[in-house]
Amino acid sequence: MALQKYLSFITIMICFVVCYSSTLQEDPLSLIVEDSPYINDGTFIKQSKDHVLGLRRFDKSGEISLNSFKTFNVDDFGAQGDGKNDDTQAFNKVWEAACSWKGTAIVLAQKNYLLKPITFSGPCKSNIEVQISGTLDASNNPSDYNEDPTHWLMFDSIQKLTVKGGGTINGNGNIWWQNSCKKNKKLPCKNAPTALTFYKCNNLVVKDLTIKDGQQIHFTIQDSSNVIVSGLTVTAPEDSPNTDGIHVTNTQNIRISSSTIGTGDDCISIVDGSKNLKATDITCGPGHGISIGSLGEGGSKEFVSGITVNGAKFSGTTNGVRIKTWQGGSGSASNIKFHNIQMDNVTNPIIIDQNYCDQQTPCQKQKSAVQIRNVLYQNIKGTSASDVAMQFDCSQNFPCQGIVLQNINLQLEGGGEAKASCNNVKLSYRGNVSPRCSYIEEMHEIGSNRFIV
Ligand SMILES: *[C@@H]1O[C@H](CO)[C@@H](O)[C@H](O)[C@H]1NC(C)=O
Repeated sequence: MALQKYLSFITIMICFVVCYSSTLQEDPLSLIVEDSPYINDGTFIKQSKDHVLGLRRFDKSGEISLNSFKTFNVDDFGAQGDGKNDDTQAFNKVWEAACSWKGTAIVLAQKNYLLKPITFSGPCKSNIEVQISGTLDASNNPSDYNEDPTHWLMFDSIQKLTVKGGGTINGNGNIWWQNSCKKNKKLPCKNAPTALTFYKCNNLVVKDLTIKDGQQIHFTIQDSSNVIVSGLTVTAPEDSPNTDGIHVTNTQNIRISSSTIGTGDDCISIVDGSKNLKATDITCGPGHGISIGSLGEGGSKEFVSGITVNGAKFSGTTNGVRIKTWQGGSGSASNIKFHNIQMDNVTNPIIIDQNYCDQQTPCQKQKSAVQIRNVLYQNIKGTSASDVAMQFDCSQNFPCQGIVLQNINLQLEGGGEAKASCNNVKLSYRGNVSPRCSYIEEMHEIGSNRFIV
């Protein structure tokens, strides 16, 4: 009798543990796919595989069901995969099926598919893994984009999404570049589509993909959180206009690693509302470098904070690490670290530009500015293609504050000493720093306050 009681107690305890942990698993932050970031107070914790495979959970009716995998191959939904016929409908259908599957849906795209603009919308009943091992080719007929001229592939409002597979996403941007006002000054300035957009996606993993020849920006992460990006190759010609590699906007907790980006614009651009971003092992070039901003355009109040770039190599880019803000804005860019960076023949290796102006008419002088505060530059070496390797062009009314330079060695490409140009910056040096701001030279210029702390 006593043994029976003991056994039923054990049974109840086991059930309790299983049920209780299942409930926990339903927490959107803990039921996430392999390699997803688990964020706790802004720190990343590697998720164990145990959280993924064969876990038990409640379905909507409150019953415990085994979380099962199902594969959805676009070829089984009518895709031709010959790169010539339009496969958009098949992708819509596969998404509908995968998104309503209660389990883990694995979507396979293994051939070469021609696609018009397409939005994969959530919320989904499942967590979804999209495996692209083939090629997704963008339609290059601009009239296909009439409905929404700003996006080609978009994932909207999906939780626990992984996109990976070693394949290629090809924006076929040539037709758009030719019709850009930056290439042909007679044409009106219009936006071209972003090749790949993740919008309102939380617990997102994007890895092992090539994104090439974007119509405009290659890859945007917008209004999302808890994002891991790794193993990306992003390429477009050096003269393709506005083809940013990775664009991060209003996104929190994001890691970008082991990626190689060479395009006609920023390698990575980080704009308003972005917080807690860490980029490691990034190779950039050609292009415009890693950029925080632009911020404050049109008098806007914008914030970016907690940005770390640790381990990057820039080759032949116009900038290395840049912070750029428009006059007349407000808000701040703060708590930023750039460290362990190699510059090879970079035109402006280190630059803060608070007089950024990317428009056809000259920008008027304005008093307000986005405050730049607490920026550490540490272990940055290499060569500058221009005389000025380090430029701090800060606002007179809102000088750059808390700028720390530690162990910097930037020489001219081909030999010789590079210079620093410093306006309205409060900075300090640690270790060996070359070049340094020249106090005397600064005093000769009239009309702005300069600080060396
Ligand atoms: C360095 O960059 C400049 C301008 O970007 C270019 O003209 C020059 O050929 C480059 N030098 C080397 C050695 O690559």
